[in-house]
Amino acid sequence: MTINASNCLKKNGFVFITADMFSKCEMATSMFMKLQDEWERLPPDAYADMIRTKRFRRYSKLNYSQHAGLTTDIVTDPTFYQSAEINSVYGGIDRRFPQIQQSTIQSPTFLRIFKVVVEALPSHLRKSFDSSRSNPDRQALKASAHQIRCTCDKATAVSPAPEGIHRDGHQFLSITLICRENVNGGISRIYDNKGRLVFEQKLTSPLDTIVINDLTMMHSISEITCGNDANEGKRDILIFDFDLSP
Ligand SMILES: [Fe+2]
Repeated sequence: MTINASNCLKKNGFVFITADMFSKCEMATSMFMKLQDEWERLPPDAYADMIRTKRFRRYSKLNYSQHAGLTTDIVTDPTFYQSAEINSVYGGIDRRFPQIQQSTIQSPTFLRIFKVVVEALPSHLRKSFDSSRSNPDRQALKASAHQIRCTCDKATAVSPAPEGIHRDGHQFLSITLICRENVNGGISRIYDNKGRLVFEQKLTSPLDTIVINDLTMMHSISEITCGNDANEGKRDILIFDFDLSP
């Protein structure tokens, strides 16, 4: 799976890793449900228009070593910045979100998702990521995590990413579905650099994951509406982004 995902990403600029490609024996259902529960206590995204984008969010920069596993990077400035050029709706300002809770980051399931995504990255990036393996003072590959919930109700179609077709402004990013309930729409679309649609997929099974080369591809997510006669729907995702440090 690792070799195929990595080859796919290299060849196409993206790879879709289906939920069933995650090793179920390593991902106990009870542990995954515990991780899902971490999305129940997300604070509102203070920067989002809560009418058109009902978004709840935490954000952390991460460190990883084989010895310590995943930890929150408390040294690096936790500010999340995207240029106005990259994000026409929310870009151009420093955004500060509450850090992801330790109980989330320390979850074996969270680490498993992270490792599956890292294994899909090009080998030279993969090798440079473990700070304990190369130069302990300098981590060549930087990672951040975004823990996000979007909700919708009967009244309004909600746009999880109102910036439309866009890049996130990183080298690579991944989107993993954690939970989806009473939601219609929310189709992930991937485009080449000329804006031509090359792939679309609705993430429906928890753990469905897309890894994207953000330098060569663009992406979008369609509006979500509330389905199944329910009063509220929710779509929970975990995003990792990756950058090489200068
Ligand atoms: Fe995005």
